[in-house]
This record gives sequence, structure tokens and C-alpha cells, in this order.
Amino acid sequence: MSEAVTMDKIVSLCKRRGFIFQSSEIYGGLGSCWDYGPVGVELKRNVKNAWWRSMVEERGDVVGLDCSIMMHPTVWKASGHVDSFSDPLVECKECHQRWRADQLEKQECPACGGELTEARNFNLMFKTFMGAVEEEAAVVYLRPETAQGIFVNFQNVVSSSRKRLPLGIAQIGKSFRNEITPGNFTFRTREFEQMEMEFFVQPGSDEEWYEYWSRERFAWYQRLGIRPENLRLREHAKDELAHYAKACVDVEYMFPIGWSELEGIANRTDFDLKQHSSWSGKDLSYFDGVTNERYIPYVIEPSAGADRSTLAFLVDAYTEEDVEGATRVVLKLHPELAPIKVAILPLSRNERLVPLAKEVHDKVRKCFVAEYDDTQSIGRRYRRQDEIGTPLCVTVDFDSLEDGQVTIRDRDSLAQIRLPIDNLADTLKAKLSGEEFGTDSLWAGARA
Ligand code: GAP
Repeated sequence: MSEAVTMDKIVSLCKRRGFIFQSSEIYGGLGSCWDYGPVGVELKRNVKNAWWRSMVEERGDVVGLDCSIMMHPTVWKASGHVDSFSDPLVECKECHQRWRADQLEKQECPACGGELTEARNFNLMFKTFMGAVEEEAAVVYLRPETAQGIFVNFQNVVSSSRKRLPLGIAQIGKSFRNEITPGNFTFRTREFEQMEMEFFVQPGSDEEWYEYWSRERFAWYQRLGIRPENLRLREHAKDELAHYAKACVDVEYMFPIGWSELEGIANRTDFDLKQHSSWSGKDLSYFDGVTNERYIPYVIEPSAGADRSTLAFLVDAYTEEDVEGATRVVLKLHPELAPIKVAILPLSRNERLVPLAKEVHDKVRKCFVAEYDDTQSIGRRYRRQDEIGTPLCVTVDFDSLEDGQVTIRDRDSLAQIRLPIDNLADTLKAKLSGEEFGTDSLWAGARA
């Protein structure tokens, strides 16, 4: 049985095994900024690749884009972010800590019980200066969402891709928000990565597409292994809606901090294109050759956080098992997300085993991310691979030198089976892409 997963356990595993480190740690760390280590960067890339595959590559109606982080400052006036992208901030008159007024249970400082100031609106956009002068005219913002780069390129994409509506434009990239109260590890940070797609549709068909994307995005997390009982959809109340949205539903995950937002799917109507049209003076309407109408498209936006979903995949995969009286920590990550797919482990550093193990590694690494490890005892190496979620371990032992076979160990069932080194990569590939991991006939035979 698995104990409750706490954020402390996740933070500790992430540091111990090289998923995530505190930014600038040797200088005492920088609040709410995190660095992805060797296995963390692979995990997060796999999350982003899985998103891109399902949102762009596997569809004929979505194309990609990669915009600059800094944009013309008028973009943020038109989008409403200069006026409306703020949270209510209060400050403690005693200890001067700052809090989000809408997140406080009592009208007193949560740290010292002191009296609080009146709430004022605090804009979350980071400002900086472009060029060699530091004056108001040179102010630019770090984007607080990737979406605006998509809206201002709508005409460029439509005319260059010669695509018709409904059409989606997808983008993955960094966003920045000067959050008043960041925290809970990578859940809320001031620099984070978003995976956003703006789906442009004919007005009137927007509600149908809103339903479609809500279902589609909810299913995506489950397809990648998140347990259904840890996911839910929550519709926003009218007074929660962002300034641009007619409706919004959150995909929520049961984090150790409770149910919290993973992703939002919003009906942004024609708000953004209309605003940019009026501020830029450019016509951003679309001529629909099928209906012979000209209109400003409506937009449905599934907007997910790459860091937040990576955290959810980590939490959901984290398992503690009792194996022969000892606790085994294992990350039961979906093989598509696992940072390392296969580990090649010679039983020891014996001079006869190492060359064969390296030969096996060279063959296997051509097909997928594979790690060679001959340090420490085999037990410790298995433990490390379990904790970083490696689905398959290949062990090269003395029998391998005689019979040309190796032992494959399945992470989840702990089943072991011997297989020939010839065509090993094909067998492993079949195993990794199998839907029911560890329960097909090959493995069932091995467990029997
Ligand atoms: N374009 C719409 C938009 O940005 P949002 O709900 O503010 O909507 C979308 O953000 C997603 O981005 C969130 O569901 C979350 O996953 C991620 N996100 C937002 N703020 C974040 C933060 N401070 N730290 C980490 N992820 C964040």
C-alpha cells in the first residue's frame, strides 16, 4: 500500500535524483525559481512533446508557432493586461509581509496577526527596459501568457498556411508573472512554461468546440497515466472569469495541497482579435469561403502549465511499496514520459561483463533514451532506476557471455525474464509501447 504523497517527499526525491533543484542554491536560492536537473529536463521535455504530438502532429487542424517573449507594449494595453491583470494586495503594517487579499481567511496577517492595509490592485506583469535608456518610453513587459503572440500573428498564419477555419495555433514557451504569493514547489512560480492553443472557430460554433476541448484535454491526462479519481473538471462561476472569457472550465488535479488547477479551457469569444484590430487599425477578420461570410472568429483556448503538469505526473506516479519488508519508492510514470526508457546494468564492473554491457547499450540507445550504469551494487542501481521511473532494466551477467541472453526487469511488476541480445531493441520497443504495461503474455509467463 502506498502512503499519502506529501509535497516534502516529492521535493526530496526531486533533489536526490536530479529532477528539480532550487535556483541559485549555492547563493541561498531565489524564491520560487527552480532548475530542472538531468532527469527532470527529460521528463518535462517528454510532457511538452506529448502535448505537441497530440495537439499539433496528430491533427490536421492545428499548426505551431514560437513567438518572442517581449512584444510591442501596446499588445498588453489592447489585451487588457495593463489595466486588468492584477491581484488584490494587502500589506501587514507590523511585519510588512504582503498577501493576496482574496486568499486570506481572516482580516489579519497570517504570519504575525498584525493589522493589514487596504487592498490595492497589484499588476502581475514584469516590466523591463528595451535598449540603452531606462525611461517610460522604453518599457517592455515579459509576457504573462503566450496567447497574445498567437492573436497578433493570426493573419500571418492564416495567409501563409492557407488553412481554413476551424484552425488552431499552438505554442509552448515561457511566461512570467510577479505572483504575490508563489509557492508549493513548482506549482506557482514567477517564471513558468505554458502549453497554449488558440482554436479559431466560426461564431455560433464556439460552445460546441468548448465542450469538445474540455473533454479532449481532460482525457489527455488520463491517457498519460493520471488516475481518473485524481482528476476533475470545475466550471468557473461568473465572478471568477478572466476579463476576456465568456466561460472557463479548469482541469483540476488532487495535488498534496488539495484540488488545484492544472489547466484552463476558456471561451475567449472574439475579444482578443477585436481588441487588436481596434488598437492596431488592422483588419483581423476572416473570410469564410464555405459560408461566404466575413467575421471575427471566436476562440477556444486550452491553456496548460508545463511545470504544473510535470509536477502532477510526478505526484501521481509516486508510489511506496513494501517489498520483502523494505520500502521501495517507485515512480510509475507512463513509458512515454519516463526520462530514461531503459537502463543497461552489468551485474558488476567485471572486465568481461563491461564490454558486452556497453555493446548492448550502444545498440539500444539508437532507439530510445538509455542509460548505462555500472556504479554501486546492483540493488542500489535498481533502486535508483525505480526512483527515476525507468520502465525496463537490462542486466548483463556471466550467463550472458555464454548464452547471448540478458535479464529484463519490469519496473512495475518486478517480473524478470531472459531474452536474446539479438533483436533486443525491437522487443524492448514493443514492451515500451504496450498499452497494458507488464500484463501481456510474455510478462505473464515470466511472473508465473
Ligand atoms: N492564456 C490563458 C492563461 O494564461 P491561466 O489560467 O492564467 O490562463 C494557464 O494560466 C495555465 O498556466 C494554468 O492552468 C497553470 O497550469 C499555468 N500557470 C499559470 N500561472 C502559473 C504560475 N504562476 N506558476 C506555474 N504555472 C502557472
